[in-house]
Amino acid sequence: MAEAVLVAGGAGFIGSHVSKLLHMKGYHPVVVDNFVRGHRWAVKWGSFVEGDLADTQQLMRVIRHHRIRAVMHFAAYAYVGESVAEPSMYYLNNVAGTLSLLEAMRDAGAERLIFSSSCTTYGEPRETPITEDHPQVPISPYGRSKLMVEQVLRDYEDAYGLRHVNLRYFNASGADPEGELGEVHDPETHLIPVVLDVALGRRPHVAVFGTDWNTPDGTCIRDYIHVSDLAEAHVLALEHLLAGGGSRSYNLSNGEGFSVLQVIEETRKITGRTVRAIEEPRRQGDPAALVGSSERIRRELGWEPRHPGLEAIIGSAWEWHRGFHT
Ligand SMILES: NC(=O)c1ccc[n+]([C@@H]2O[C@H](COP(=O)([O-])OP(=O)(O)OC[C@H]3O[C@@H](n4cnc5c(N)ncnc54)[C@H](O)[C@@H]3O)[C@@H](O)[C@H]2O)c1
Repeated sequence: MAEAVLVAGGAGFIGSHVSKLLHMKGYHPVVVDNFVRGHRWAVKWGSFVEGDLADTQQLMRVIRHHRIRAVMHFAAYAYVGESVAEPSMYYLNNVAGTLSLLEAMRDAGAERLIFSSSCTTYGEPRETPITEDHPQVPISPYGRSKLMVEQVLRDYEDAYGLRHVNLRYFNASGADPEGELGEVHDPETHLIPVVLDVALGRRPHVAVFGTDWNTPDGTCIRDYIHVSDLAEAHVLALEHLLAGGGSRSYNLSNGEGFSVLQVIEETRKITGRTVRAIEEPRRQGDPAALVGSSERIRRELGWEPRHPGLEAIIGSAWEWHRGFHT
């Protein structure tokens, strides 16, 4: 029988891509999602249970019913700006919601967790590229909610033996190269889908938040990582834990940063469309540049990104985006 893996938040952008890869690799994804930010159309593989992280009893039943040994946890709110305005939403869903999931796992005997953490846990970088040993001093409630969960996981490991892998993603982007899935957040704040919306004429312009940062062209720099490469890393982390491996924290990044203006320029090139950009003030909670080193997961788990570079990322996102919206 295929190993069942609980995918909390599997109707979302990254969780749906991971569910597809789990299925392709012979696992049985069991998606739990309440659709607060995800999509019914994105759940195509394995089993599906509509439910909320806060419902500990339901999660216990699902874990027992499918004899789940390992959980992948994507379910969270994930907007820095929203977290500054509405911190209670973030601590309730991201922290209290995770505690509910952990209680269900503990009760039902699932002892392995892969957690979607974030580069936002590092805060303002003191050196670049950021390694896993960089101090974690987040500057937004969203980043703090992710760091709190990492701390809880450490305590749960010490006390209850919960083995876990924290995957600290940099900017997840791109789309399934086979065109079955892509990125649609609602509201959409992620740069690449916003820029593609402008290219398609679905929005009048893209806002560039701050042009006076201490970067070569004055706009923020981020490290974009293809969602299919993230998915591969999840399967490697799962295999590591199922083989008896211990807890780890890994960055998932390409080690190369691109500015907002570079992303816009590359999109103009790939789409051949006009992309109007307007300058707006900086947003609270945004560091100037975030570029990560993923040497550790390459060395320890043999992960290797197959779609590095802006062209592959924006190209796959464009293919999917224009098919979905036209
Ligand atoms: N997208 C990125 O660049 C990025 C970067 C770093 C970390 N992350 C983290 O990765 C994870 C996935 O991100 P994404 O971009 O796929 O987000 P997403 O919003 O597309 O997916 C999250 C999914 O979780 C579900 N969900 C949220 N709260 C829930 C709850 N209480 N009960 C059940 N389901 C719930 C949503 O409906 C959605 O389907 C998040 O935890 C996010 O913080 C994302």
